[in-house]
Amino acid sequence: MKREERVVQPEEMKRQEAFIEEIREMPQKPKSYYVVTYGCQMNAHDSEKLAGMLQRMGITEAEERDKADFVIFNTCCVRENAERRALGNVTWLKEVRKNNPGLIIAVCGCMIQEPGMAEKILKQYRFINLAFGTANLHCFPELMYRTLNTDRSVVVVEDRDVIPEGLPIARARKEAAYITIMYGCNNYCSYCIVPYVRGRERSRQPEQILREAEGLRDSGVKEIMLLGQNVNSYGKDLEGGMSFAALLKELDGTGIPRIRFMTSHPKDLSDELIDVMSGSRHILPQFHLPVQSGSDRILKMMNRHYTRDQYLDRVRKLREAVPGIGLSTDIIVGFPGETEEEFRETMALVEKVRYDSAFTFIYSPRVGTRAAEMESQIAPEVATRRIQELIALQEGLQQETMKRFVGTEEEVLTEGLSRRSSESVSGKGRHGISITIAGTVQDVGEILRCRVTGLKNNTLVGERI
Ligand code: 5AD
Ligand code: SF4
Repeated sequence: MKREERVVQPEEMKRQEAFIEEIREMPQKPKSYYVVTYGCQMNAHDSEKLAGMLQRMGITEAEERDKADFVIFNTCCVRENAERRALGNVTWLKEVRKNNPGLIIAVCGCMIQEPGMAEKILKQYRFINLAFGTANLHCFPELMYRTLNTDRSVVVVEDRDVIPEGLPIARARKEAAYITIMYGCNNYCSYCIVPYVRGRERSRQPEQILREAEGLRDSGVKEIMLLGQNVNSYGKDLEGGMSFAALLKELDGTGIPRIRFMTSHPKDLSDELIDVMSGSRHILPQFHLPVQSGSDRILKMMNRHYTRDQYLDRVRKLREAVPGIGLSTDIIVGFPGETEEEFRETMALVEKVRYDSAFTFIYSPRVGTRAAEMESQIAPEVATRRIQELIALQEGLQQETMKRFVGTEEEVLTEGLSRRSSESVSGKGRHGISITIAGTVQDVGEILRCRVTGLKNNTLVGERI
């Protein structure tokens, strides 16, 4: 498919705009909305787009879910428990509707894009008024309009790889913002459902990304987080495409104080990117580099296209180029056929790398993926024991790795008052680790300099300079 065909054209966006205008004038439109988000940053950002469209329709955000007239669940399906939780909560809303008969229940996101889900909703979840997949987010105004004009369920799921541009966005934070740089994933890691529900990799044009970043800078945003399932392959699908490293260099020049990104695939982490990071002040010294497993055999079964040694080489290069870099990862335990010895290889890798944080998951079979068909699925009690061991190891190591910051100077972008006291604020340091320092509401959203004086649980404690 040619790229032009994949970008949602301005005429289509205008058509959607017209639906927004129509809804604004409708007496039967809901007064308030509530968006429930599951899953990753990509979903969190999609929810900001939903909120943006809803606000343009003249619907205001409700303080609580059970007080809203329109509730939309933006779902995730990467692991089974995310899916189960979403369906459980959607079903609970049926009870809430008993007190608010006009309540409109909508479900969107990755789960809806799963094969067979549309049929399942029409049969088993008939109380849902509106359901649409990830490829239909930009048509939400049209679908909402249809929902408000019928008593039947509106369920629309398409298999299209679109790039929507120009959607209104109601950003959750003033000082920090997400920017999607690419959609979809081509990697087909054997356990992962994402390529099936988010489609093929497609990159936004660099000019669009830069324009968005400059707009954010002008409105006072201090930090941008670039989003993509595999940001390292940004631009590969564009004619004469710009590499991710080159894009970062351009963004570095915009003067936005802090730039972060996620997620990176180790196989595509280029030397060029490492060079750009080492020569930049604005690209933060932090890196999320999912390893998934420390065993070569399991990595192969996972279709990850790197070995343990190649991964460790990338880590070494990153640390040489960006001393003290904050490093985080994702790890799956209990992948089909994972032996005790192979699990020990993961433990040994964690011990060797010394991550600043690790997101650990028990393997969850997803229908349609290759791993779900593999023999020797691991017993739940074995997987649970393994993850507990891994978490305990990581927690111990983390206390050690964090000590390297004590006595150093850091910069915190404060997110809010600290949970424990109204006289301190907390936020993330340049290395991606939470820091708490003395401060008040006035300091929220500011970049403050501090000296790290110690640690408390999983956060650093600092003194303002
Ligand atoms: N089971 C468990 N964890 C998974 N992840 C992706 N798919 C699965 C699955 N089927 C994890 C990976 C990925 C993170 C976002 O979720 O570690 O990096
Ligand atoms: Fe899933 Fe692998 Fe793509 Fe990440 S890179 S979204 S784990 S298929």
